Amino acid sequence: MSLMRPLIAGDLVLEPQVAAHADAMFVVLSDPRIYEHENAPPASVDALRERFRRLESRLSADGQELWLNWVIRLPGGDLAGFVQATVSPGGRAAIAYELASAHWGRGIAYHAVQAMIDELVDGFGVHTLYAVLQRDNRRSLRLLERLGFGATLPDEGVARPVEPGELLMHRAGRSA
Ligand SMILES: CC(C)(COP(=O)(O)OP(=O)(O)OC[C@H]1O[C@@H](n2cnc3c(N)ncnc32)[C@H](O)[C@@H]1OP(=O)(O)O)[C@@H](O)C(=O)NCCC(=O)NCCS
Repeated sequence: MSLMRPLIAGDLVLEPQVAAHADAMFVVLSDPRIYEHENAPPASVDALRERFRRLESRLSADGQELWLNWVIRLPGGDLAGFVQATVSPGGRAAIAYELASAHWGRGIAYHAVQAMIDELVDGFGVHTLYAVLQRDNRRSLRLLERLGFGATLPDEGVARPVEPGELLMHRAGRSA
């Protein structure tokens, strides 16, 4: 049986990301508004396909972490973006998400990320979730707060260094 499965989030379907999604996702991820705070669009559809192909291993290069990506399928059949989780052996997961701006402001990210969190907890033994964001990324901050994330204190044992312009948020796997 494969490691990842499709997830249902209301009328959204989260499909395990594969190389065959690259053509449609190249269009989605070429929206410049996604990169207002960080990152950059894919250089080419071929580069994106190659990246997705490598990610199909679901493993980091050192084999220590699970790298899980799901694309978000809208009821009409279009793709809206993706959600992703980096799961470390001790049951911690860092999450991230990108949606094309045409799909912002409707709760799609909220429902997709919540469905992923449920799967991480139930299927992958995750007990703590983290997210790192740029301090001025208000939409991402609002999303995380709505999902029950709070600010993480410096002594809460996080391996990843956090840059001055960044914010680290966390929540327990199962929300209270
Ligand atoms: C971060 C990002 C995913 C947030 O998207 P979003 O659509 O604002 O997030 P949500 O799904 O939580 O939707 C929230 C909005 O939908 C509205 N909404 C409508 N119906 C809703 C519902 N049923 N449930 C929740 N929210 C709903 C909310 O009121 C809110 O509106 P507001 O932004 O005017 O306050 C998006 O901005 C994005 O992809 N940004 C670029 C990439 C990025 O920065 N990634 C994060 C890096 S850390």
